[in-house]
Amino acid sequence: MAGPVLSSSDIPGPPPSAGGHNLRDIAEAGGLPGFQVRLHRTYGEIAHFAMPNAQVVSVASPEVLESTLDLPECPMELAPFLTPLADAANVLLSGEQDRARWRRTVIPALSCPHRAESDHPRFIDIIEESAQRWSSTGEPVALERELDTLALRLMCTSVLGSTPGQAAIVERVTDAFERLPEFFLGQVYGVRTTSQEPAVDSALTTLRDVVTFLVDEVAPSDLISAARRAGQSSKDLVNTLLAILIGAHRTTGTVVSHALRQLMRHRDVAKRLRAELKTVLGGKAAPAFHELPCLRYLRRTLNESVRLASPVPGIARRAPDGIALGAYRIPAGTVVHYAIRAVHMNPRVWPRPDEFDPDRFDTAPQNSRPAMAFVPFGIGRNDCPGALVAMEHALLMLAVLAHRFRFESRTAGKQGSRFSLGGPCADPVRVRPRRSR
Ligand code: HEM
Repeated sequence: MAGPVLSSSDIPGPPPSAGGHNLRDIAEAGGLPGFQVRLHRTYGEIAHFAMPNAQVVSVASPEVLESTLDLPECPMELAPFLTPLADAANVLLSGEQDRARWRRTVIPALSCPHRAESDHPRFIDIIEESAQRWSSTGEPVALERELDTLALRLMCTSVLGSTPGQAAIVERVTDAFERLPEFFLGQVYGVRTTSQEPAVDSALTTLRDVVTFLVDEVAPSDLISAARRAGQSSKDLVNTLLAILIGAHRTTGTVVSHALRQLMRHRDVAKRLRAELKTVLGGKAAPAFHELPCLRYLRRTLNESVRLASPVPGIARRAPDGIALGAYRIPAGTVVHYAIRAVHMNPRVWPRPDEFDPDRFDTAPQNSRPAMAFVPFGIGRNDCPGALVAMEHALLMLAVLAHRFRFESRTAGKQGSRFSLGGPCADPVRVRPRRSR
């Protein structure tokens, strides 16, 4: 039987610290994801906290997520680091109708299976290029940075085709992105970061210049042609590419670096994965496109890495009118934050949530979980348009690299201490080419 309906003021949560909000608590927890995992362990699956400009209701219950799937509008005041990149036409800041139109054009062009298959050999070459470079220098590899750049290169190939000078272009984009979110988030949370304002200004200029060059000078790819057919101007296209590059930054690459660090810590998992790769790939360096679905343990390993370290740890929505969130009725305008990381760490749904166990993604345990227990790509009408392509790239990167190298590091999966928006800032790793594949 349903319990009494409670008001939003009954939602439990920590008292605000200095300034009437919880920013200091968030910074002390190393960022929002860690803060929300703690918040929900202490106060339950629906809890509140305060930002300087909003009272936030945070949700870690898959069932509540499902019952509120279609909440519209992301309150952009919670993501001020995006505003300098955006003008009125940027999808990340646009209204629901423009966004829906944008998605109808971009998602089919991004997720086309024929293109994925025809790009597959090119993707392998690009991954191999990085692998060769790592092997030939013999130096420790800055894994997070390398994989981020690699993932952006694959993404650029998907959306732009093979552009001459692409590697150098992507290096510039990665450099620029390195500075931006951290700087703006640092400002929001009052945390010192390594990026300084002039460097940030020049990073913003670089990004716009590079993307404008890509739109104006590069032969039209499927995506650009589709966008032009749908009436996007050159300015719209610059914004489209910026949105895609922002989306692809520190997401796919972070997922793969996290998976490789987990493999360094969990030799039993690494051994099982290696056995699968040997069986499916035989003596080859990389899987053929049609072999990807056969790499079931690889996919489970990747999913489990994503569960523990979703690169997008939460998403914000705004309640349109007095809606129910579990037992609570919340007023219109309330900011609802789907705490993706905390959903993935919910001990009711994920027993022993801190443990790394790819078998959680075996068919039987998967079927017994609520539908929204695993939501790394968000939910509802604004979910991630890059989900398919990101997983396709991540699986291929992980397959090729785990098959070719043994990775070693002193800290393996441990997170660095630097305040960080995205992936962990960890030690460089040693890559040891395997004698036999
Ligand atoms: C493992 C990799 C990735 C993860 C976990 C991820 C996750 C997410 C999440 C959680 C959202 C918010 C969804 C929501 O509000 O419901 C999002 C939005 C978005 N992502 Fe991804 N993403 C990944 C990779 C990518 C890639 C490679 C692209 C490039 C195409 C991309 C492009 C975008 C864009 C453009 C949005 C905004 C969509 C909108 O607001 O309509 N993402 N992503």
